[in-house]
Amino acid sequence: MRVVADPSEFQSLMLAAKPRRIGFVPTMGFLHEGHAALMRAAAADCDVVAVSIFVNPKQFGPKEDLSRYPRDIKGDTLLCEASGVDVLFIPTPETMYPEGFETTVAVRDTSQGFDGASRPGHFDGVSTVVLKLFMLAQAEAAFFGEKDFQQLAVIRAMVRDLALPLDIIGVPTVREPDGLALSSRNVYLSPVERRDALVLKRALDMMRAAADSGERSAAALLAIARGVIAEVTSARLDYVELADALTLRKSEVVSSPTQALLAVFIGKTRLIDNARIL
Ligand code: PAJ
Repeated sequence: MRVVADPSEFQSLMLAAKPRRIGFVPTMGFLHEGHAALMRAAAADCDVVAVSIFVNPKQFGPKEDLSRYPRDIKGDTLLCEASGVDVLFIPTPETMYPEGFETTVAVRDTSQGFDGASRPGHFDGVSTVVLKLFMLAQAEAAFFGEKDFQQLAVIRAMVRDLALPLDIIGVPTVREPDGLALSSRNVYLSPVERRDALVLKRALDMMRAAADSGERSAAALLAIARGVIAEVTSARLDYVELADALTLRKSEVVSSPTQALLAVFIGKTRLIDNARIL
């Protein structure tokens, strides 16, 4: 596995890897089995796999966890090596955003609502860095987790609108055996909060069960989720919404395919999750 820090060196390396099929997995590091699932999907589909680790300052708000975002470059390198990665790109903010960097990519509509409402500017930061990473990685396919459902929709919209020549492949959410979605931020949770964090999956399961039993009112389904979350004292609901799973437009009356999306603070840690409920 080659480890590269310099953006232009990474781009030259990837240009030289053509015409082999390049698969790319962008990450912020502190890698876990969810990231590994993306890498394995890339390795199964592509001849060359590139992974980036970059904690992108542009996608963090001023009151968010940029400075304490967890890092473990040594462990990450081992996991990449074991998951079939050929090139690991670890740039610095100074080389990704040199003095005078002035471009922003904004995917206007898909970035609205859900996490976009709670984290102003977040998705502009994501789409800007992901487009730059795409141009550096020169991939034919890029792999994203369904765990970040709106992010995946934003990237798909950007690729469609700008006619970027690569396939976007969504990978199902990897969970702990008890149902908690794997996240780099789970490390912030105390043992009690770790247990309380199961409320996200429980709320999604209860909504799906009600939808399975025939409930079609979005208001009724959302009330069920709010009730489940209100039972946990350390949990504070940020949002819970139902949306068309393809367009991400909010749904009033539920008809297939419907995705439930939620964000919940467990203590000070903000967790997100989502599931198809119909
Ligand atoms: P990060 O949170 O490190 O996630 C990198 C990729 O791993 C994303 O596509 C995310 O959806 C996926 N992922 C995270 N947890 C997962 C899980 N439990 N199951 C499946 N996939 C999972 O998302 C980002 O970084 C950044 O916003 C990035 C796209 C790298 C841009 O900076």
